[in-house]
Amino acid sequence: MGAITVVDNTFATPLLVQPLRLGADVVVHSVSKYIGGHSDLMLGAVVTKVSDLLPKLRYYRANVGAIPGQIETWLALRGLRTLDVRLRRQTETAALLAERLRTYPGVVRVHYPGLADHPQHDLAARQMRGGFGAMISIELDCDAATAERVCAATRIWTNATSLGSVESLLERRARWTGEEYLPAGLLRLSVGVEDAEDLLQDLFQALHQAGLTVPELSRTGAPPPAG
Ligand SMILES: Cc1ncc(COP(=O)(O)O)c(C=O)c1O
Repeated sequence: MGAITVVDNTFATPLLVQPLRLGADVVVHSVSKYIGGHSDLMLGAVVTKVSDLLPKLRYYRANVGAIPGQIETWLALRGLRTLDVRLRRQTETAALLAERLRTYPGVVRVHYPGLADHPQHDLAARQMRGGFGAMISIELDCDAATAERVCAATRIWTNATSLGSVESLLERRARWTGEEYLPAGLLRLSVGVEDAEDLLQDLFQALHQAGLTVPELSRTGAPPPAG
């Protein structure tokens, strides 16, 4: 009773989900991610429609929080102007990758709310508009070392934390302290704006290099791209 509901809407952005309309009291965003969109600023935002909370949040920001710099706010506003086109493309590519990756023998599971068999697909379909976002995770049928080799072998995807940028990133989440409980072969993918087929082929060649079966390549006998 009386609890304040806070939603982290960083992954979805206000374009795909509007939590205040769905009943949340407060929404937080890491603006460093999709809103900025270029991995070049650190900024956060708190949004609320609860008028009592506003003075408290302002007080807290003024006395405890970090005050945003001019360049960060300028970059965030500039990023916002292209959020729609970036996210549209990233979401479309993510949906395609999720679909293609799920049929892969070395990939035991694809987590993406846009997939009909995702446990919360129906909820996502009710709450999200214009797509299911550009974050995917895949579980590989391998140990930690092999999964790390996949991350190291990509050429377009960068093996790094963070998300929401125009550049595609991937990482093995269980490498982090506190996240060791995750499957050793779980990779989180933040899909960028690069060509979808290039992104897919890059993942395939990385899986191949790490020794995971790549049926397309082994069927045709084609070697992974050189370079
Ligand atoms: C969903 C989500 N919310 C918030 C944050 C925190 O962002 P920041 O590092 O800008 O504080 C992150 C960071 O990865 C995140 O993934």
